[in-house]
Amino acid sequence: MSDFSTANALIERHARRVPDFPQPGVEFIDLTPVLADSEAFDCVIDALGGEWSGIDLVAGLDARGFLLGAAVAMHLNTGVLAIRKSGKLPPPVFSRTYQLEYGEATLEIPAEGVELAGRRVLVVDDVLATGGTVAAAVELLEEAGAEVAGISVVLEVPGLGGRDKLVGHNVRCLSAG
Ligand code: PRP
Repeated sequence: MSDFSTANALIERHARRVPDFPQPGVEFIDLTPVLADSEAFDCVIDALGGEWSGIDLVAGLDARGFLLGAAVAMHLNTGVLAIRKSGKLPPPVFSRTYQLEYGEATLEIPAEGVELAGRRVLVVDDVLATGGTVAAAVELLEEAGAEVAGISVVLEVPGLGGRDKLVGHNVRCLSAG
């Protein structure tokens, strides 16, 4: 099996499906046990960082994307950029507010101190659902002058239009919920 299909099988084996969370009729797929299993975590990181070349920096999205992004950055021998929820970074920042499946959020990156212009960035997160989070991250990075080389996520929730917000970008999802 390839890294991709092995990762997919391990995600299926370890992910915990929780009915009626966070609201009735919705099934929540909890990846916590996947990350807590050494074989699954290693394989997922390998697959998230695979196939990409010429990556200068990995960006992990608040909050679970931090765990994955840092590990992928180690795997690719790059630095890591934490893309934060609002109010955590000192000014100046680039900022984007977006719609979540349940509510609204704002992401921020530093506007000074991290050189992003012309750098090829891989965006890493745990879940792609409506795509609002990743799309906001992509916009932030592009506003800062970076080139988004690709997007790697562990789990895609189909039917919520996430891919539609990322047309023209290279998106790699290891598993579909
Ligand atoms: C979750 C998840 C993704 C995002 C996906 O994060 O970790 O980042 O939602 O949803 P979307 O594709 O509809 O934007 P959340 O904002 O709940 O933050 P968390 O990681 O701190 O739980």
